[in-house]
Amino acid sequence: MVTLTIDDQNIQVPEGLTILQAAKQVGIEIPTLCYHEALAPYGACRLCLVEIKAPQPALVTSCTYRVEEGLVVQTDSKWVQRTRKIILELLLARCPTSKVIQDLARSLGVEETRLPTLGTEEELCTFCGLCVRVCREVVGRSAISFINRGPTRTIETPFKIASEECIGCGACAAVCPTGAIKIEDIGDSRLLHNWHTTLKLTRCKICGGYFAPQEELESLKQQVPLDEELWEVCPDCRRKLSAHKLPHHLSSY
Ligand code: FES
Repeated sequence: MVTLTIDDQNIQVPEGLTILQAAKQVGIEIPTLCYHEALAPYGACRLCLVEIKAPQPALVTSCTYRVEEGLVVQTDSKWVQRTRKIILELLLARCPTSKVIQDLARSLGVEETRLPTLGTEEELCTFCGLCVRVCREVVGRSAISFINRGPTRTIETPFKIASEECIGCGACAAVCPTGAIKIEDIGDSRLLHNWHTTLKLTRCKICGGYFAPQEELESLKQQVPLDEELWEVCPDCRRKLSAHKLPHHLSSY
């Protein structure tokens, strides 16, 4: 165990935790944007900055910094508050119409940004990188990545065309904090607008409804042991069909 001080509380936490995880254990909330507990820490958004007093004063990203014996942490010092506000002004300049960013800024005392809009008014991507990382680390694909630098930096498929790596699972959209990734099911097709990709949906053998791209089902089959017949039906019908066969947590795949 490691003993440290967070916001004047002496606490003991297991070795290897980050400051963010340690703070959470004692009920101290630190704002985050690019952090997701299912993914490796990334340290991109800088919102989770905290001040450490030992061994020397510094601002560090709490989602990446591991606890140390004797560490003294302030999660809401003047220095932290000032810096967080600047970060929020930058985020507001990048995504001026994002409700999520506006709410986050307001909750931390920032009503507006003094900076000019950095891109288009409609921009929703904060470059948190969650979509890129979930695709690579959880789905096991690398259908999208950061491309370019500076003002033309963006997240894209290779060559900005449909990627064979995309299985249409929608994990990228599910983790995106600002709703920047648009996915629609229309008729027998799933349209992944941001990724220039359209995939055909599989039809449920029981109810006839379209439910998932074949590519996603093939990928899941490698990871989840289900009877072959259960992959041919939609999650609703599968739940009914498997009520007596499956542990509950597997019936939603
Ligand atoms: S949450 Fe730590 S840098 Fe984004």
